[in-house]
Amino acid sequence: MPRHIAIVMDGNGRWAKKRGLPRTAGHAVGAETFRKIAYACRDMGIEYLTVYAFSTENWKRSRDEVNTIMELLKKYLNELVDTLVEKGVHVKVLGDKSGLSPELQELIRKVEAISDTIDSPYHANICINYGGRDEIIKAAQKWAEDPERPPLTEESFSHYLYSDGIPDPDLVIRPSGEQRLSNFLLWQSAYSEFYFTDTLWPDFDENTLREAIKAYQRRDRRFGGAK
Ligand code: IPE
Ligand code: IPE
Ligand code: MG
Repeated sequence: MPRHIAIVMDGNGRWAKKRGLPRTAGHAVGAETFRKIAYACRDMGIEYLTVYAFSTENWKRSRDEVNTIMELLKKYLNELVDTLVEKGVHVKVLGDKSGLSPELQELIRKVEAISDTIDSPYHANICINYGGRDEIIKAAQKWAEDPERPPLTEESFSHYLYSDGIPDPDLVIRPSGEQRLSNFLLWQSAYSEFYFTDTLWPDFDENTLREAIKAYQRRDRRFGGAK
């Protein structure tokens, strides 16, 4: 079983277009898919799930689409404030929070504070205003400004990344037929296994997840070594 699965939640817009609906309708259904998959992962015993919800490049989209995504994120985080303890999952937001609305930042603070009080092996990380290159640049800045600035190694540098404390993803899944990272977890995916499927994110379900895990279990991970 992979310990950490990361998913690019892609294909909401095309899912909606195929049905003659506005792109925003696809995001609403995609948000439901996330709820289902997060609990499916927990129930399968997967310790870490990291999802790409909004990239540093997604601001290029129409104001209407960006607003809809931000409203959906607020709605989801608000729900978590009331239900997180009972759900027993640590939630963390990865990304440049300073670029988000004060209201969203406050909600994230609340959810992360509640998460800190939960004793559970399950972690859901949501990447919002996240970019892999931005993360690496910000980490370099943090290191440079750290009065204790430790000698720079892969290990010491990784503590300045948003993903500090989170193991690297074993499996990265991208639905929707696209086969690229789109600036997701550039540092962390150095030795991840990749799984691509044509299924659009709103149609992604537990069976798709099981297929991805089965494919992962057939892989031979060598990490540069030889057998
Ligand atoms: C992913 O779905 C959600 C976000 C990027 C926020 P898209 O909106 O990218 O859907 P497609 O790729 O246009 O179908
Ligand atoms: C990546 O999907 C970002 C998220 C799913 C949040 P995009 O739809 O933004 O990526 P591109 O534009 O197809 O590369
Ligand atoms: Mg897309």
